[in-house]
Amino acid sequence: MTPANRVMQSYGRCCASPSFFDTFYQHFLASSPAIRDKFTKTDMSSQKHLLRAGILNLVLYARGMSDTKLRALGQSHSREGFDIRPELYDLWLDSLMLAVREHDSAATSEDLSAWREVLNKGINVIKSFY
Ligand code: HEM
Repeated sequence: MTPANRVMQSYGRCCASPSFFDTFYQHFLASSPAIRDKFTKTDMSSQKHLLRAGILNLVLYARGMSDTKLRALGQSHSREGFDIRPELYDLWLDSLMLAVREHDSAATSEDLSAWREVLNKGINVIKSFY
């Protein structure tokens, strides 16, 4: 199985768990005051839906989809936009991996390395717009 297909299946199992995105944001917001400061005025319930689609776009990009959606995320997260410093994506990915471990009990160590490989490809596109 390709890494992107592994991630697609694991992501399906995660999304079937109702509190997957709550767990992600608990870890992510706890990871740094710099993260918490960015979300003080955010409606977290809509943010969870936006993130659900955002992660799907990262996986589809690794499967060969065009980079249009990721370029738009790169613009919105750049220093002219939300001003998300590139190192904050490490905390984002670590928080996501904790949530995957907690919500996909079937995830193997190959699945977990596939997640990092697949998401980093798209994260690098987003960061390149900073
Ligand atoms: C908004 C996805 C990483 C902070 C958004 C939106 C999406 C998204 C889809 C809403 C659409 C938009 O406005 O462009 C992602 C993905 C990420 C990522 C897929 C990882 C690759 C981060 C990181 C931070 C961050 C590391 C750091 C704090 C924000 C903020 C908003 C936002 C502050 C706006 C919230 C608001 O409307 O109040 N993100 N994001 N994002 N993201 Fe991200």
